Amino acid sequence: MLTQTLGSSDLQVTRIAYGCMPLGGSWDNAPLSDQTKISAIRSIRAALDQGVNFFDLADIYCRGKSESAFSAIWQEIPALREKIYLQTKCGIRLPDDPNASGPDGYDFSYEYIVRSAEGSLKRLKTDYLDLFLLHRPDPLVEPDEVAHAFDDLHQSGKVRWFGVSNHTAAQIEFLRQPLRQPIITNQVAFNLIHTHLLNEGILFNQDNPLLARDEGTLEYCRLHNITIQAWGPLAWGQLTGREVENPAANVLKTAAIVEEMARSKGVSREAVLVAWILRHPAKIQAIIGTTDPVRIAAACQADELELTRQEWYRLFIAGRGEELP
Ligand SMILES: NC(=O)c1ccc[n+]([C@@H]2O[C@H](COP(=O)([O-])OP(=O)(O)OC[C@H]3O[C@@H](n4cnc5c(N)ncnc54)[C@H](OP(=O)(O)O)[C@@H]3O)[C@@H](O)[C@H]2O)c1
Repeated sequence: MLTQTLGSSDLQVTRIAYGCMPLGGSWDNAPLSDQTKISAIRSIRAALDQGVNFFDLADIYCRGKSESAFSAIWQEIPALREKIYLQTKCGIRLPDDPNASGPDGYDFSYEYIVRSAEGSLKRLKTDYLDLFLLHRPDPLVEPDEVAHAFDDLHQSGKVRWFGVSNHTAAQIEFLRQPLRQPIITNQVAFNLIHTHLLNEGILFNQDNPLLARDEGTLEYCRLHNITIQAWGPLAWGQLTGREVENPAANVLKTAAIVEEMARSKGVSREAVLVAWILRHPAKIQAIIGTTDPVRIAAACQADELELTRQEWYRLFIAGRGEELP
């Protein structure tokens, strides 16, 4: 599988990464079952078999159980840790954390960031994280406090590199001022029917545009060598056969074009979706989240599929649901 350098780091990562969100089975406090661990191993193996070397997690996924389920792979393949990159995230506090019946919220405080990283290391049964992301922007963020947490995690060898997720250009610029480590990734939702990342640039200076107000985040990330990671790259199955109640017209039309292209090229529909993301010159990394080994292999076919400019635009316009200005 083709690799690329992640942001300004020295990490050589596959362009298609594996998203481990559902591996823990359920978002509750029920104990992790052996069956869930077996299913997790099956999905991770399917990604490894395709050559994927990068795995995405978060402290909250299945309330920590996805990280615990992931760690079951070390017993199966003992020499694996040094051959792959592990990324996890912190910053979202689920209801009841830290106090029973507390509200959910975001938290970029020193104590929380450090505690979360240490919890993830424990659950993942590893000594270091290759990459640690701030999950969603915290309106109460104090960049100096984040800098202090990143320094301690970096100096202790617990975290190699840092990034963010769901952040705008202005939020990254504000956050990174006091940081001693570079921000190397920004993970955002991006797929054929979720194109806000591109829309502001397309709609600028139009009458009554539905501005996404992302402040040129794509251009900012390219300029500052921050790799965009696309979550939701399979459009959650909506374009590849998952039953959707009352699908919007753009979803139906895009799904039909995806199917037609896939058939004419002799590839899977998932490959067309992911190839559309990889075709962008920003070198976006796609974080695929299906647990199904067949769909994992289908999505990874994108590594060998290059769409033409014309094909890319045909899909883009169908996904947007309206012509370009
Ligand atoms: N940073 C963030 O805020 C954020 C948010 C969400 C996710 N993420 C990360 O990104 C990864 C991928 O995101 P995602 O899971 O939201 O998006 P995705 O990869 O677009 O969608 C995967 C989901 O769609 C289902 N699916 C795909 N094709 C299907 C089909 N043909 N029929 C039925 N179901 C189908 C999968 O179910 P099956 O497993 O049954 O195939 C799975 O639940 C996650 O694992 C996580 O690592 C990050």
